[in-house]
Amino acid sequence: MPRIAYVNGRYVAHADAVVHIEDRGYQFADGVYEVCEVARGFIVDMPRHLGRLNRSLRELSIGWPVTPDVLPIILREVVRRNHVTDGLVYLQVTRGVASRDFVFPAGTKPSLVVTARKADPTAAGRRAESGIKVITVPENRWDRVDIKSVGLLPNVLAKQKAKEAGAQEAWFVDADGTVKEGGSSNAWIITRDGVLVTRPAEHGILRGITRTTLFDVAAKLGLKIEERGFSVAEAKAAREVFISSATTIAMPVVAIDGVLVANGHPGSITLSLRQAFFGVAEKSPA
Ligand code: PDD
Repeated sequence: MPRIAYVNGRYVAHADAVVHIEDRGYQFADGVYEVCEVARGFIVDMPRHLGRLNRSLRELSIGWPVTPDVLPIILREVVRRNHVTDGLVYLQVTRGVASRDFVFPAGTKPSLVVTARKADPTAAGRRAESGIKVITVPENRWDRVDIKSVGLLPNVLAKQKAKEAGAQEAWFVDADGTVKEGGSSNAWIITRDGVLVTRPAEHGILRGITRTTLFDVAAKLGLKIEERGFSVAEAKAAREVFISSATTIAMPVVAIDGVLVANGHPGSITLSLRQAFFGVAEKSPA
């Protein structure tokens, strides 16, 4: 079954899907993106993802490549044409194609690319049963990580370092020892009293959509959340630790820098959040 991508108004074979060499995404990382989970034939939390896209575009003064009501149709169409029931749909908007100059080009149309790909939900379930390992790295990203920009080189390097250390995620840590977030996920701990703790999203991290929906899940399960910073030391001593993102949902962390969390097994509260997530999230038929 050939994969199909959407590129600037056309549905094309994935292998032939190309953008111009002077696309500003390619030259300056001058663009933004979103990743939505596709689960059981639904696009998960699409309105929230498109709301965050709108904010990212506005913060960078990039226009909408299509009208906001058309984008959900394109996302659904790409998911449908690729027969994705479980997996993800990726969209990227850049400032467009222009001869290389740092300042914003006048009259350039933003570029839009959408792809979708399958993922095996049972493999993700198995990963959640064993949990993942994280390492910590010093924060070295720019100040506007609240914008979901395609400029991800520090994240690439941090996650590669994690892989080389036998871990699956890297946590960026501030100079004062507090945890910011992962290379592609938000970071959470659960205290001995069963309180969920995650850093405030006003500044310094991406406001994850999964994070936002987990607030709703926690409310449904009667769990308390504290939005505050936590240190690496507090995380190592926590009752449970997990990460959240559209591609992992709530994923237990069982080791930080080689130190086992609790008994080294996924925590029951994290697994209950994971289990309740789909029921609470907004589901748009693909
Ligand atoms: N990453 N923080 C960072 C730096 C991220 O890149 C992501 C998502 C998140 C979680 O956001 P959300 O819950 O909306 O997925 C937090 C996506 C999955 C990626 O880059 O592939």
